[in-house]
Amino acid sequence: MGYDGGCDGNLEQGMQCLDSQGGLVSETIKELAKTSFAYQRKRTGGLQKLLARHVPRQLLRRGKRLLMLPMDGMDFLLGRRGELVPPRYLNFAGDGDFKAAGDEFLKYFVELGGLSPAHRVLDVGSGIGRMARPLTRYLSGGSYEGIDIVPQGIEWCQRNISERYPNFCFQLADVRNLMYNPQGRFEAAEYRFPFGDGDFDFTCLTSVFTHMRNREMENYLLEIARTLRPSGKCLATYFFLNSESRTLIEAGRSSLDIRYPLDGCWTSDEVVPELAIGFDEGYVRKLYADLGFVVETVQYGEWCGRREYLSYQDIIVARRRP
Ligand SMILES: C[S@@+](CC[C@H](N)C(=O)[O-])C[C@H]1O[C@@H](n2cnc3c(N)ncnc32)[C@H](O)[C@@H]1O
Repeated sequence: MGYDGGCDGNLEQGMQCLDSQGGLVSETIKELAKTSFAYQRKRTGGLQKLLARHVPRQLLRRGKRLLMLPMDGMDFLLGRRGELVPPRYLNFAGDGDFKAAGDEFLKYFVELGGLSPAHRVLDVGSGIGRMARPLTRYLSGGSYEGIDIVPQGIEWCQRNISERYPNFCFQLADVRNLMYNPQGRFEAAEYRFPFGDGDFDFTCLTSVFTHMRNREMENYLLEIARTLRPSGKCLATYFFLNSESRTLIEAGRSSLDIRYPLDGCWTSDEVVPELAIGFDEGYVRKLYADLGFVVETVQYGEWCGRREYLSYQDIIVARRRP
C-alpha cells in the first residue's frame, strides 16, 4: 500500500521489511507465531459475544465467579497458579493462558518495539497485570506505570505487584467504556493522561484500541504522543480493516464479523460495539503520521482468517519523531 515505513502483507514480508529497516527482527519472532494468544481468543470470541449481548454484566460476573471457583480451588491446592497470576474468576481482561500471552508480548515489546530493561514504560489499559507480570522480570533499572478503567484490576495489581515491585505503579482512570466501565465519569475522547510531557520511553496497548471508538482512540494517540519522549516507541494492537481483512470478513473466514459501521470505525456487534472494534488501516497510518509518529512495522494478525500471521491481533509499532 506504500505507507511510510509500514509493511503490507504477511509475516514473511513484514520481516523482510523490518530487516531492511535496521535488522530489528531476530529468529525468535518466527517462533512466536501460532501462540496461545492467537488461538485462545479465537476459540472463545463467539461465546463472549453471545453472553455480552444477552446476559446482564452483573449476572455475567457472578456466573464467571461460580464457574471459575472450583478451578481456582484446584489451582490453589495444586500450587498451580504461579507468581503474579490473578485467580481466574477475577480475570476480566483476556481469555487463554495468562502467562503465555504476557510472555508472548514481552518478546514483541523487545524484538519489535526495542524495549530495554532501563526504560520507563506506560501500559495503557493494564487490565489485571497480564503485561506487567513478565515486565517485573525484565525491567531492571526501569519503571512501569499502568492505567486502567476497571477498579478491581487496578486494586489487584496494586496489592500483588506494586507491593513487591515498588517501581510498578497502577492508577485508576475513571473513564467510560460500554463494555468495561459503563458508569465511568470521564469521556475517553477528552481524557488527559496523569503524566507529564515526554515521561516515557515505551508505551504499550494490548487489546485496548480494539475496544475503543474513533474519537477516543484519536485522543489517546495524542496523549501517547505527548507523554512519549522524542524517539520513544509505542506498540499497539488493532483490528485493521484493509483489502485483505475485508475480503476475508466478506467470505465468512474471519473470527470477528467486523462489518457494522460506527462513526469512523466498525464493530462486530451493534448491541455492544466495544466488544470488538476495527479501524481502516489507511486512516490509522495517516493519523500516526499527522501526530508525529513514524510507523516502523505492522505485523498482521490471524483474527480475520489470514493464513500467515504473527499473533491474533494486528500489531503496529511507531516511533515519535524527534
Ligand atoms: C482485553 S483487555 C486487555 C488488558 C491488557 N492490556 C492485557 O492485554 O491483558 C482491555 C482492557 O482495556 C481497558 N480499557 C478499555 N477502555 C479503556 C480506556 N478508555 N482507557 C484505559 N483502559 C481502557 C479495559 O478496562 C481492559 O482492561
